[in-house]
Amino acid sequence: MTSGTVRWPALNLALHSGDHCCPSRMLLRKCYRETDLEVPLDSGRQNIRGLNRAGLLFSPGLVVPAHPSRGWSRHSRPVPYPGGDAWAPHLPVVCGRSRSLGTVLGTVQESQPRAPPAVRAPLAMAAPSRLLIRGGRVVNDDFSQVADVLLEDGVVRALGRDLLPPGGAPAGLLVLDAAGKLVLPGGIDTHTHLQFPFMGSRSSDDFHTGTKAALAGGTTMIIDFAIPQKGGSLLEAFETWRSWADPKVCCDYSLHVAVTWWSDQVKEEMKILTRDKGVNSFKMFMAYKDLYMLKDVELYTAFSQCKEIGAVAQVHAENGDLIAEGAKKMLSLGITGPEGHELCRPEVVEAEATLRAITIASAVNCPLYIVHVMSKSAAKVIADARRDGKVVYGEPIAASLGTDGTHYWNKEWHHAAHYVMGPPLRPDPSTPDFLMNLLANGDLTTTGTDHCTFNTCQKALGKDDFTKIPNGVNGVEDRMSVIWEKGVHNGKMDENQFVAVTSTNAAKIFNLYPRKGRIAVGSDADIVIWDPKATRTISAKTHHQAVNFNIFEGMVCHGVPLVTISRGKVVYEAGVFNVAAGDGRFIPRKPFAEYVYKRIQQRDQTCTPTPVEREPYKGEVVTLKARGTEEDSTAGTGKQAHP
Ligand code: URP
Ligand code: ZN
Ligand code: ZN
Repeated sequence: MTSGTVRWPALNLALHSGDHCCPSRMLLRKCYRETDLEVPLDSGRQNIRGLNRAGLLFSPGLVVPAHPSRGWSRHSRPVPYPGGDAWAPHLPVVCGRSRSLGTVLGTVQESQPRAPPAVRAPLAMAAPSRLLIRGGRVVNDDFSQVADVLLEDGVVRALGRDLLPPGGAPAGLLVLDAAGKLVLPGGIDTHTHLQFPFMGSRSSDDFHTGTKAALAGGTTMIIDFAIPQKGGSLLEAFETWRSWADPKVCCDYSLHVAVTWWSDQVKEEMKILTRDKGVNSFKMFMAYKDLYMLKDVELYTAFSQCKEIGAVAQVHAENGDLIAEGAKKMLSLGITGPEGHELCRPEVVEAEATLRAITIASAVNCPLYIVHVMSKSAAKVIADARRDGKVVYGEPIAASLGTDGTHYWNKEWHHAAHYVMGPPLRPDPSTPDFLMNLLANGDLTTTGTDHCTFNTCQKALGKDDFTKIPNGVNGVEDRMSVIWEKGVHNGKMDENQFVAVTSTNAAKIFNLYPRKGRIAVGSDADIVIWDPKATRTISAKTHHQAVNFNIFEGMVCHGVPLVTISRGKVVYEAGVFNVAAGDGRFIPRKPFAEYVYKRIQQRDQTCTPTPVEREPYKGEVVTLKARGTEEDSTAGTGKQAHP
């Protein structure tokens, strides 16, 4: 071995081979004199923290120029680590040399991703403007190909074989060797609730911790929900959520807006949000009686307005009246623990509302998106409706695909409470497999998480009454690995369908495609380099989600995001972040997504009923009795008498 940069187990980070400083992700220096940057040939495994303590440097976002002949530039100067000693990963390093690139490489073996504290000083300034991902298997929803991907100014600039110039990498180009790895579009989580004020509390992951956790899991975009109180302005809610999110987000995001009551003002604001604010989806609640729930007639008018303005109607499909009655019943039976949450809202409560929502949406020919599909019964309703030709999409979540509702019967109260969400996870343990099969065959379309985390002390608001346990579970960091494990590794879907259900389909439905959800020239450079063979064990001890419990605790997942690239910059890599609050952007979405609305518009043209042309009836017409007389059987009912 000679001197080197760093090679991650599966992914080689080939640093620039020029003779002068250029930005790069990795810097490993064993430097005793300013002008001598060589790492000993036999350096072998080294503890980077030790280097840092000695005033030496290993840091993301900084530059190690590699000398063409010797590996390290003799002209470089040590750069003080901006975060001082505050951050230093415990990663063993093995150095080596890349023959293919003539660049010095090293290796970091990591069995478990580490969770160091955030890098304090943003290193984005030093991030390269150009990045070449070499030799990976680029996976889109329709096909895969081994190719290089060149990223420049936040977008995919080129895609093809052998994009590295014969002379090696020019200055400013960071080369990531992804041979043997998958190169996927970054995940899109269609359903999160970050810093959501809900059920007397506020969800513990805010837009900073939640989006960082997303990046650690290979998700590069989330869609959260702005939710006004009944009687509140939708526009104000939207602006409030933007003011919370914009300064904090580490990845791109967008907002669905909830319709929690109905009036002419709401109708007008939906129009403004769609026309001027980049919102093309609205969530209606059929549950949370007296808080968010709409009546059927309000659903009808809200769906009609969605159709008019080219938005997608989303529903939380549960029968809120039945839940309210069921909850009273359980409490009267002395059932106050988390199991009562499921018992008062069994599968049929979800399935009934799902069918009702589909029926109402179909009546107005409005596209419908069912959020958080949690049960086999509801999923079957959606699959049947799709076979009947309805424009309806189902979104299972990481929780419903990865675990089940048997946990509500766990003897530890806090354990059971951490699974409480609405609709609940189902006690039928065959549910996750069933939902995954439907996701694999296209009956279900997208995946979210409903990430809405509460710490145990917050869940404890309902320690004596399950109706007061704040509803919500984790998943934003876990979704991609859980779906890979249960979907791809288990043999239910291939890598292309994985991409379809983790990003592409969402991008199409919410009109982000092909900017998001695809790796193609011109697409946003939101990419995850994925190791399908590596494993990681999910745990609250190592996750980045700001919550003290993980509903997937102990799950061993094949499929590990090695490197996450957002807006063309490496933002996460094997436990290390290189991203700052506010680096993400709000992504506006235009109405009338073709993927959704082409069929709707076609139906409007061809399927709108027309009257039958007839000769007018010219025969006798019976004379009705005067209202209120004895012969009028409808007297006092308000109905019209029939002959
Ligand atoms: O339990 C849940 N789902 N919490 C968030 C609110 C919602 O209904 O999505
Ligand atoms: Zn919901
Ligand atoms: Zn939700």
